[in-house]
Amino acid sequence: MVRKIIRSLTASQLLLLVLSLPQGRTSSVLTVNGRTEDYILDTYYGIQASLECAVQNHTRDEELLWYREAGRVDLKNGNKINTSSVCVSPINESDNGVSFTCKLQRDQTVSITVVLNVTFPPLLSGNGFQTVEEGSDVRLVCNVKSNPQAQMLWYRNNSALVLEKGRHQIQQTRESFQLSITRVKKSDNGTYNCIASSSLKTETMDFHLVVKDKVPVMPIEPIIAACVVVFLTLAFALLSRRERIMKLCVKESGRNSETAL
Ligand SMILES: *[C@@H]1O[C@H](CO)[C@@H](O)[C@H](O)[C@H]1NC(C)=O
Ligand SMILES: *[C@@H]1O[C@H](CO)[C@@H](O)[C@H](O)[C@H]1NC(C)=O
Ligand SMILES: *[C@@H]1O[C@H](CO)[C@@H](O)[C@H](O)[C@H]1NC(C)=O
Ligand SMILES: *[C@@H]1O[C@H](CO)[C@@H](O)[C@H](O)[C@H]1NC(C)=O
Ligand SMILES: *[C@@H]1O[C@H](CO)[C@@H](O)[C@H](O)[C@H]1NC(C)=O
Ligand SMILES: *[C@@H]1O[C@H](CO)[C@@H](O)[C@H](O)[C@H]1NC(C)=O
Repeated sequence: MVRKIIRSLTASQLLLLVLSLPQGRTSSVLTVNGRTEDYILDTYYGIQASLECAVQNHTRDEELLWYREAGRVDLKNGNKINTSSVCVSPINESDNGVSFTCKLQRDQTVSITVVLNVTFPPLLSGNGFQTVEEGSDVRLVCNVKSNPQAQMLWYRNNSALVLEKGRHQIQQTRESFQLSITRVKKSDNGTYNCIASSSLKTETMDFHLVVKDKVPVMPIEPIIAACVVVFLTLAFALLSRRERIMKLCVKESGRNSETAL
């Protein structure tokens, strides 16, 4: 008796459970490259990655959608129903961390997301030529992108830069490696090397720093006074020579017309 009640209860509960499940979700399941859950795809820059999304256990045509981050990927006809592939070729460093999501058009809560983890060697960039006046401050900024992260070093003359306390400062952010020099000296002139080493490769970028002489700051009033004196002297000299110059001009033009004839 008691057993019968329990049995009938569990049976009806089971039926209720099955009925309450949304039909679409139970009958259709997605896979991407054979996997049924979100995952991280480890890949290398320069190669090609293809992702194939497929519907499993479906009973009719199922349309699939692909998204790159939030943007819909334009799929060709014949690459939408039941299975759909996208291809990233060649993969480059800007694809690192980018997500690709395959969704069931009929029920977009059914989806699988793949995030690319792109391994690439260090890429360095920055302003390789800088000129600074002696006594002022300068900052060499070496921009770096790398996966895995690179060890960063500043070199000078092929050996590690000896940091002068209070004058040299090194700052590192996720995407840059900076060397600040305050009160630049003549001896700071030279080539600095930004060195990035990852397990894949060691990259170097040269930063040329030219230290030019300090332009002496001159007192302005004596300069103006000197200019006025020079100007007046020239004006008087010209005035007194005017007649001679004019004569010379007349002579010259006369001679010129002679030769022209
Ligand atoms: C889909 O079908 C396979 C056999 O064809 C079965 O093993 C699997 O459990 C089914 N998946 C779902 C979610 O119904
Ligand atoms: C999609 O799958 C369904 C169910 O297996 C099948 O009936 C249909 O022909 C397939 N459509 C295409 C375009 O392959
Ligand atoms: C990487 O790929 C993107 C898009 O495919 C492209 O816009 C970018 O220029 C590429 N970058 C390099 C360094 O090739
Ligand atoms: C991504 O790839 C890098 C370099 O190969 C690796 O060190 C890192 O563990 C990977 N990260 C994840 C989350 O898989
Ligand atoms: C770097 O090398 C040059 C030439 O070999 C030398 O004149 C200069 O003094 C060196 N600078 C430093 C900081 O060692
Ligand atoms: C200053 O450094 C630059 C860049 O390395 C170099 O070309 C130049 O010869 C150096 N000048 C002096 C005076 O050392």
